[in-house]
Amino acid sequence: MTEQDFILKTYNSNIKSGSVKWSSPSNIALVKYWGKKENQIPENPSISFTLSDCKTITEVIYTKKKSNDFSFDVFFEGKKNEAFKPKIQTFFERIETYMPFLRDYYFKIETSNTFPHSSGIASSASGMSAIALCLMSIEEDLDTDHIDDYFNQKASFLARLGSGSACRSIEGELVVWGKNESTESSDLFGVKFEGEVHPNFKEYQDAILLVDKGEKQVSSTVGHKLMFGHPFAKERFSQAHNNLAELKAILASGDLKAFVKIVESEALTLHAMMMTSMPYFILMKPNTLEIINKIWAYRSENDSNICFTLDAGANVHVLFPKAEKEQVYEFIKSELVAYCQNGHYICDSIGKGAKRL
Ligand code: PMV
Repeated sequence: MTEQDFILKTYNSNIKSGSVKWSSPSNIALVKYWGKKENQIPENPSISFTLSDCKTITEVIYTKKKSNDFSFDVFFEGKKNEAFKPKIQTFFERIETYMPFLRDYYFKIETSNTFPHSSGIASSASGMSAIALCLMSIEEDLDTDHIDDYFNQKASFLARLGSGSACRSIEGELVVWGKNESTESSDLFGVKFEGEVHPNFKEYQDAILLVDKGEKQVSSTVGHKLMFGHPFAKERFSQAHNNLAELKAILASGDLKAFVKIVESEALTLHAMMMTSMPYFILMKPNTLEIINKIWAYRSENDSNICFTLDAGANVHVLFPKAEKEQVYEFIKSELVAYCQNGHYICDSIGKGAKRL
């Protein structure tokens, strides 16, 4: 598939109105995407677990109009939201080549998240994938000629243009994005990981500990740019290729100890890149470190396979096999909740991807 293949060439312009609705999840990267080229092309491959309960639900009602500009309104959790409009406007501008009908309709976009607003959880992956899927269903209403994989590939392709990691939220349970030698993949869209997955990784759990619910200190747009001219960039990008290849073998063998090593090292490397860029940032908070140390102590005392990963922020994703669910939640409640803002955490697990509602 090339970019040209995603351009919609003809469509039925007699359709006056309709509505579509999707629920789309967030995802958590195991091998991290950090650094991009022009056009949201990643500098290195990444792989993520699709989440199950952290989702955005978006409905788009479309009505034919005459004027030739983009026309839309965004309602977030029932209230008209002006703050989201510039992001959607930019998104429409980026994708209009591929969806020439965007100027023909007025779109009423109603969106809400299952996780609390300003929880510090990135909503761009679930939000951008949900809107991309709605636009794809509209495209399908106007053009019924779609072939098998096209829908998901183009939805992911569009989501990527909204926010890179959003392209990994269309399908489950593991999704790879970015060309590499060990898995089937593309730079243009996320691809469901088709390698073997050992039962140890089935229904893997993710408890998201909300250490800092504030605005992100560094936006990911700024963050990715820090990899330009970064002294360790080349080494980091090649490390991501190696880690993905190793992870593929680990997913097949079920080696949980090896999984823990790669996942934690990836999280710390992401933060190390931010600490060693110019300008430099520390995105962890004291409580992030407290939690990491507690996780390490618990792991060695209980011969557990619990581990952590981090996004570009202070919150901690605690990952563990389903078999350890009861004990780990006891540990979280007794020892980790104290480090969460207002004692707040979210219980999630691996999911199967977006759903049309
Ligand atoms: O999708 P973006 O541009 O917000 O980048 C997100 C990057 C990380 O969350 C830090 C890592 C990843 O691969 O999801």
